[in-house]
Amino acid sequence: MIMTTRITRFAVALATSLAAFASAISPARAGGPIRINVETANSALKLFVAPEDSRLYELGYGAAKENYDFPKKLNRQEEFYPQYGDGFISQPALQITHADGNTSTSLAYVKRETSNLDPDIALTKIELKDPAYPLVVTLCLKAYRDEDVIEQWSEIRHEEPAPITMLRYHSAAPAIKAKDYFLTQFQGDYKREATLAEEKLTPGIKVLDSKIGVRATRYRIPSVIISLDGPAQEETGETFGASLCWSGSFSIEAELDWQNRLRLLAGINPVGQQYRLKPKETFKTPGVLWTWSDKGKGQVSRNFHRWAKKYGIRDGDKPRPILFNNWEATHTDFDDAKIVSLFDGAKDLGVELFLLDDGWFGNKHPRDNDRAGLGDWEVNRKKLPQGLEHLADEAKKRGLGFGIWIEPEMVNPQSELFEAHRDWAIVQRNREPELSRYQLVLDLTRPDVQQHAWKSIAGPVSTRGVSYVKWDANRYVTQPGSSYLPPDEQTHLMVDYNRALLALMSRMAKDFPDVMAMACAGGGGRTDYGTLKHFHSFWPSDNTDPRDRVKIQWGFGHFFPAATIGAHVTAMGNRPPKFACDVALSGAFGVDRDVSKMSAEERRAITNAIALYKSTLRQITSRGDLYRLESPYDGPRAALDYVMPDASKAALFVYQLADGEAKPVKPCGLDPKRRYTVRELNVAADSSPSDAKSVDGAALLRDGIPVPCRKEFDSAIFEISEAK
Ligand code: DGJ
Repeated sequence: MIMTTRITRFAVALATSLAAFASAISPARAGGPIRINVETANSALKLFVAPEDSRLYELGYGAAKENYDFPKKLNRQEEFYPQYGDGFISQPALQITHADGNTSTSLAYVKRETSNLDPDIALTKIELKDPAYPLVVTLCLKAYRDEDVIEQWSEIRHEEPAPITMLRYHSAAPAIKAKDYFLTQFQGDYKREATLAEEKLTPGIKVLDSKIGVRATRYRIPSVIISLDGPAQEETGETFGASLCWSGSFSIEAELDWQNRLRLLAGINPVGQQYRLKPKETFKTPGVLWTWSDKGKGQVSRNFHRWAKKYGIRDGDKPRPILFNNWEATHTDFDDAKIVSLFDGAKDLGVELFLLDDGWFGNKHPRDNDRAGLGDWEVNRKKLPQGLEHLADEAKKRGLGFGIWIEPEMVNPQSELFEAHRDWAIVQRNREPELSRYQLVLDLTRPDVQQHAWKSIAGPVSTRGVSYVKWDANRYVTQPGSSYLPPDEQTHLMVDYNRALLALMSRMAKDFPDVMAMACAGGGGRTDYGTLKHFHSFWPSDNTDPRDRVKIQWGFGHFFPAATIGAHVTAMGNRPPKFACDVALSGAFGVDRDVSKMSAEERRAITNAIALYKSTLRQITSRGDLYRLESPYDGPRAALDYVMPDASKAALFVYQLADGEAKPVKPCGLDPKRRYTVRELNVAADSSPSDAKSVDGAALLRDGIPVPCRKEFDSAIFEISEAK
């Protein structure tokens, strides 16, 4: 079947009497190819080991029912996890310099095993080995059947006489074949996070990456969508999604080769991150999540959401509390009386938890602005003489939970911490330290810094009455130097940092299982599934103008479920209160606005919105499946609906972003055979609600719902429930 005259690497290995290593390799060369299928309900990744050379090749990734022909001739470009230096000529997933200086790696199949971890999850491990060196690479593929998600990572281990140097060590590099490929990335910057940009790929390598060490997401999230043979559609077309579980510097490389094959490499960014791996140590790359659908990027998103709620975030099925966060209301300018005065307003609105933001700590260097105090995690005695417990008690008296802001990875030079431990900060020797937001990043590779960071977390979080934490990170690394790592391991800094970071996050989740957590990084700078595994939600942006927020939520919603996307009503943009509330109601609702400064209309709008969120919308948006109906990128309005998995109920949101026509909005996801009642919710105080209508599902899907939106900042929400 597979024809080749090539003298195989495996044979060479035998011939050169490296039998000690080769003996562990199972004889893939006898008989036909070994097939390895990694399957989910609708998709499959199909691999094979060629008998001629014992290498692992990819047949295809796509529909489970797809039958790929075995190639008539082996093509090294179709290797599943390509290695540098021994015949493969494109962008490699793995590039190693061995202890003896050999710059090539060659991986042959040893064995595979699949274990069913539970009825939904099967883990396939494929062991590959370099016949000439004691180097083993295990490719791990975890298939989540019902969610159509495959998580892939690699484990690299060797027993060479000295460390090997890993120059590239991507987590995965599957190849796809189609006529055309369209890549959607989610790029941006502070205050304009997760902006969609789609392009048709042309030959060459398109690199989407981050080199900023921590909080990968400042300029783009480590997640992409690939659509085959046309721009991505919402509900049709073959589409892939990829999301890397890593908060550090990443690279996603899309290489379109001369045979029109697309390889998508995802993993830790090789730039500045060479890693010397010691003998007998195992290097585990971060996981990358893949999903495939022939129902467009809408289904790709729903696959990620379902996976996340079950496996990817903390307490995926637990309702997120309605927050009142004081950042935009007060910044660091507050005291005990001010905060307590905010509690009453928050309570009257119906809020469930008060989240005290930045500014509560530091004594010698009080945190009265962002120039000082970071690192000194004692309560500021002047601002809060009775301590955090008192605030938590006062919140409790009003039926509010109490949460606290921390930024445990950072330090202001103007702090007691820095005065005592200058060498704890990440800086480059012989360079002028570069500050951003007047702060530096602590070197989490140091055990003493890890201990300090843990105290900075556990101290505030274990305060009596604290049931929520917001973990912020307001700068990134531009001078990656460590006073702790030896010269030949300086390039380990940001990899080891992120491992230590994930360990701290994991410890927090484990030691404080009842404390809910929000990830934040100067807005939405840390939104990846490595981080989110340990959090309940994230703060997507410091841009809370609801006009812009529609797009920001739209972008993040491609990968993350609504309940994870913090969406607060604030004064930013000075938009109509109903519009601001309607936008926040399609995410994890909250408020960040001094109630005493609100107009009566604003207060009424937010109180009504909160009541509605509690009675209806929180359940539908967090449990329902998302359908994006009209993109804010394509026209003057945005529309989306969330449909309960049994299609018995839905909530539909429309946001008018510029003047336009009042055309009906067509929902998706409903059952055409059922009858539904459509009712407008959150009707503006000055308009009268239209009567609830009973409509056939088929007619609803075909004709849509007439909406009262025409002018910029008009908005509407509909509840669609199965008629009794
Ligand atoms: C950046 C965050 O995005 C804000 O919400 C706020 O927590 C500030 N940091 C506090 O410094």
